[in-house]
Amino acid sequence: MLPIKNTLGRYGLVTMFLHWLMALIIIGLLIVGLYMVDLPFGMKRLRFYGWHKEFGILILMLVCIRLAWRMGNMTPPMPVEMPRWQHVAAVAVHYAFYFLMVALPITGWMISSASGLSVSFFGLFVLPDFITPNEHWRILLSQIHKWLAYGLIAAICGHMGAALLHHFYYKDDILRRMLP
Ligand code: HEM
Ligand code: HEM
Repeated sequence: MLPIKNTLGRYGLVTMFLHWLMALIIIGLLIVGLYMVDLPFGMKRLRFYGWHKEFGILILMLVCIRLAWRMGNMTPPMPVEMPRWQHVAAVAVHYAFYFLMVALPITGWMISSASGLSVSFFGLFVLPDFITPNEHWRILLSQIHKWLAYGLIAAICGHMGAALLHHFYYKDDILRRMLP
């Protein structure tokens, strides 16, 4: 039986579920985000923007649950044979992910407010506006959001590469302990 909580040797069910669900949604958000900004103005563009915003806000909600769960749980320690620089790099990337999973949705939400378009959450409720409509802020926040997303893409490439390297080259348990 897989443990619900993390243990010394592996990640538990809740952490694994949140990790893979959020990874899937975030990769989808990156693809949709990069695709939608080049669409011509029209219904299709609006529909993609709508999905992007709703799933982006879902990430903000899930990351709050994930952070709370992480604080009430242990994090399995890195294997002792892992070189120090890899340990430091892995922890730095994990912290960068948590920062980006909060900063991206918040800047996205702020772009919408600056554009004068409130964000609806799957038709259930409308989020309050952060700031009043302002073209200067819209452009600045769009640039920040874009560069944060580029940073996230770089972090995902490094993180994925490291996980696969550990699995296939070092043949340790790093990937297995995040898998059922
Ligand atoms: C983890 C969450 C998110 C990720 C990874 C993400 C990623 C992206 C990416 C890659 C782009 C394209 C950037 C470009 O090429 O200019 C983009 C654009 C955009 N995103 Fe997000 N986003 C997220 C959350 C959100 C949220 C929550 C909202 C709003 C509620 C939002 C609103 C927007 C808007 C309005 C644009 C278009 C900006 C423009 O027209 O220049 N995003 N996002
Ligand atoms: C959007 C994509 C992803 C994000 C945001 C993400 C984020 C994270 C974070 C924050 C952790 C640390 C967990 C914690 O201690 O709280 C983690 C761990 C991990 N991730 Fe990802 N991840 C993503 C995609 C992937 C992919 C595609 C793979 C596999 C190829 C992967 C493999 C792993 C593994 C193996 C660990 C455990 C590392 C360890 O044992 O310390 N992740 N991920």
